[in-house]
Amino acid sequence: MDRIHIKGGARLKGEIAISGAKNAALPLMAASLLSDKPLALTNMPWLADIAFMADILRSLGVEASYARGPRLSDGGRLELSAANIASTTADYDIVRKMRASFLVLGPLVARMGHAKVSLPGGCAIGARPVDLHLKAIEALGAAVELAEGYVVVTAPDGLRGARIEFPIVSVGATENTLMAAALADGETVLINAAREPEIDDLGHCLIAMGAKISGLGTSRIVVEGVKSLGGAEHSVLPDRIETGTYAMAVAIAGGEVELVNTRGSLIGTVIPLLESIGTEITETNRGLAIHRNGVRPVAADISTSPFPGFPTDLQAQFMALMATADGVSHIKETIFENRFMHVPELARMGADIKVEGDMATVTGVDRLKGAPVMATDLRASVSLVLAGLAAEGETVVNRVYHLDRGFERLEEKLSGVGAEIERQSA
Ligand code: UD1
Repeated sequence: MDRIHIKGGARLKGEIAISGAKNAALPLMAASLLSDKPLALTNMPWLADIAFMADILRSLGVEASYARGPRLSDGGRLELSAANIASTTADYDIVRKMRASFLVLGPLVARMGHAKVSLPGGCAIGARPVDLHLKAIEALGAAVELAEGYVVVTAPDGLRGARIEFPIVSVGATENTLMAAALADGETVLINAAREPEIDDLGHCLIAMGAKISGLGTSRIVVEGVKSLGGAEHSVLPDRIETGTYAMAVAIAGGEVELVNTRGSLIGTVIPLLESIGTEITETNRGLAIHRNGVRPVAADISTSPFPGFPTDLQAQFMALMATADGVSHIKETIFENRFMHVPELARMGADIKVEGDMATVTGVDRLKGAPVMATDLRASVSLVLAGLAAEGETVVNRVYHLDRGFERLEEKLSGVGAEIERQSA
């Protein structure tokens, strides 16, 4: 199994190209099922999760071909054609690897009137049920049954528009419902919809395919169903979690790095926070310039919340940063239970963190110390890499397949700005 070795202490200097967003790309890929015409996605990252989703789509009969961009910093192009859907069953063996595979449910039912999808697996961060997805699809007129670990959904006469109010904000349930409603008969109103930029991106792609959607970017989205959707070409939006992660890498290691192919509005609440702890951030015409001189970051408190709040997917990285800050920081995780699995690993590097329920109290230390650590989930693992950049001595991150799910060429991007980081294949 691959490991990542990091020698801490190097200042970062140069530029990092931000990839297309994994969390936008996955639902966009599922949207290809809605039409018998081709969908071309550009600025596509190439990641283990994208390969999983391509495998799931292929198992349903979708033709998928990926071509890398001319330069490493360019995104790839993924061409998808669901002209012939050969199967409406998404098997356990594939779905268990990634929770986002559940996003094929809405499109399959909307287009084919039937879907049998295994209950998902994915990151081990709490229970993560799919009840909201299922209630919404039922509200659109489908019958839902659970059998032997599978969800079987049928709507032989098609879906009907409905008013759907989500009791809590769910990114995935909003996406699944938006895709299903695009082909439902009549109007669907989504209330308390998620407002994450990835939902906008999906909505704009669906509109390019011929869907009638208004209210994107707000918590009330209205969809006027159409009979069929066409083809489209769509560029995947930049990855805001990767943007925030590398901004925090500079904040923890010090240095001066321009993040290109991204924009500040994607991490609107994170920018003032990083500024308040001693990082300078400037919008450039290509992205964001991040600068921190040698001074230690100062402690700050955060609480995760749905967009535009502080993203849960940056919580672990921010905790690594606070582990070296001057002062005491309180970090509250409100989205997922059990999302503090990075805490014992950071503690192995000398971090002083106490967890009580959904709150972690981090007392910053002068310097973390390199250690062998283990990646436990996608975002937790990158927090260990950030900690390693700032630590004294060598950090070895084991189980890096978690990182490969969501960070494209991480060690290459970081070594490109001067970090001493390399992958060793076992
Ligand atoms: C997406 C992101 C993930 C991110 C998360 C929150 C993708 C592929 N993944 O995950 O990286 O951490 O948003 O920003 O885009 N919930 C229910 N019932 C449901 C669905 C969700 O109770 O049917 C709960 C979840 O357990 C969680 C909360 O709702 O506590 C938010 O989850 P949700 O927004 O659905 O996250 P995902 O779409 O799975």
